[in-house]
Amino acid sequence: MTTPLQARPVPDIVTALPGPKARAHIEFDHAWTSPSLPRAYPIVPARGLGCRIEDIDGNVFLDFAAGIAVNSTGHSHPAVVAAIQAQAAELQHFSASDFYLPIYATAAAELARIAPMRGKSRVFIGNSGAEAVEAGLKLARYHTKRQNVIAFLGAFHGRTMGAVSLTASKAKYHAHFGPMLPGVYHVPYGMAGLDEIENRVFKRLMPADEFAAIIVEPIQGEGGYVVPEPEFLPRLRELCDRHGILLIADEVQSGAGRTGKMWAIQHWDVEPDILLTAKGIGSGMPVGAMIARDEVMTWGPGAHGSTYGGNPVALAALLETIKLLEGGLIANAGVRGREIMDGLKPLVDRFPGLVRDVRGKGLMIGIEFDSGETAEAVQMQAFDRGLLVLEAGDDCVRMSPPLVVSESEAATAVRLFAESVEAVAVNRRHAAAEVAEEVAEGLAAPGVEAAG
Ligand SMILES: Cc1ncc(COP(=O)(O)O)c(C=O)c1O
Repeated sequence: MTTPLQARPVPDIVTALPGPKARAHIEFDHAWTSPSLPRAYPIVPARGLGCRIEDIDGNVFLDFAAGIAVNSTGHSHPAVVAAIQAQAAELQHFSASDFYLPIYATAAAELARIAPMRGKSRVFIGNSGAEAVEAGLKLARYHTKRQNVIAFLGAFHGRTMGAVSLTASKAKYHAHFGPMLPGVYHVPYGMAGLDEIENRVFKRLMPADEFAAIIVEPIQGEGGYVVPEPEFLPRLRELCDRHGILLIADEVQSGAGRTGKMWAIQHWDVEPDILLTAKGIGSGMPVGAMIARDEVMTWGPGAHGSTYGGNPVALAALLETIKLLEGGLIANAGVRGREIMDGLKPLVDRFPGLVRDVRGKGLMIGIEFDSGETAEAVQMQAFDRGLLVLEAGDDCVRMSPPLVVSESEAATAVRLFAESVEAVAVNRRHAAAEVAEEVAEGLAAPGVEAAG
């Protein structure tokens, strides 16, 4: 009989990594799955609980990646499991676009209640982050009757055609897919970008009154967990107001309590016109939503919809997730985030030149290294020690653990991460060789590859 996961120590690595079953599975996977998938390292999960993940060889990992910032309430939170099971036994699908699905309106009302906008909002529910981005983009064009959009360099908004046109974190996302959506202008993230919008874009390229929206991640995710200057978001809001441009906050990664507030934009007291959420809001069930001010949601029947969007089982998880977030997990994200940050900050002085920065808010923490190779080597060393983290940007590693993370799990992660950095610092050639070996065996992708 397998030992219950809560009875196992964490981490508990019992085979060489990857283990024999994982190796066999990876070979099987490579035979059948799309080669476009950018696997960071060879973890093959079998079950999870809270911040623990057990792989198919019985190794237990401490999960500080959370399926790319998705498992907000931890793996298989009992209350979320119960809500999913109860809903699945009652009703599994009934297209909410075409009929009146009670849980859809309930979820919309809940999302509107927790939205960071004063006044009434309305909600469109889809299945993913990219779908929320597409909905926001379409609504902005529809409402303003303007075509152009500004997005930021380093941004990640998804991989569907509209969303990938807004994405500007890695050029490879655009390779061979062109032409991209026309009318998308990219500027640097932060105050330098504001200057560029006014003095380059509006002055030389396209007048301000031709722009429907500016889409921004309040804290950049895939771009490297970048926290902007304090005045950036308030000034961006002001710029949008001055020109009648809608401000879209993409909180797919930064939202759902991860930063210690329900929405990251609330750290700056800024209200968007449209807010996008997915990932953590459904605890891992496929759900995303576009929340917009009532006066902006001016489209009529047939303008937008989705067969599965607002699936009742996913929405049962979403409603339970919101309860758990408000019931203590957002507060926990703030407390644990400060502990982890305090534990990691000394690495900058301990490994001068190698660790360049430790930044973030709450449980959205980025560690910047001197190069992508170092970030990748640290990620692999952490994996070997049973700690799951994920690369981001050009040269960062991100920590985005479930919001249920405990004090002792936080301390373990800090210890294992410091050991991983030390291992790379002491023997950089060996650490790089280990990564190269994994790449050569097809167990990991080369370079900072993690997407999302
Ligand atoms: C900020 C942001 N927006 C949008 C997306 C796209 O979400 P999805 O992968 O669910 O389509 C992501 C995914 O990582 C994201 O981080």
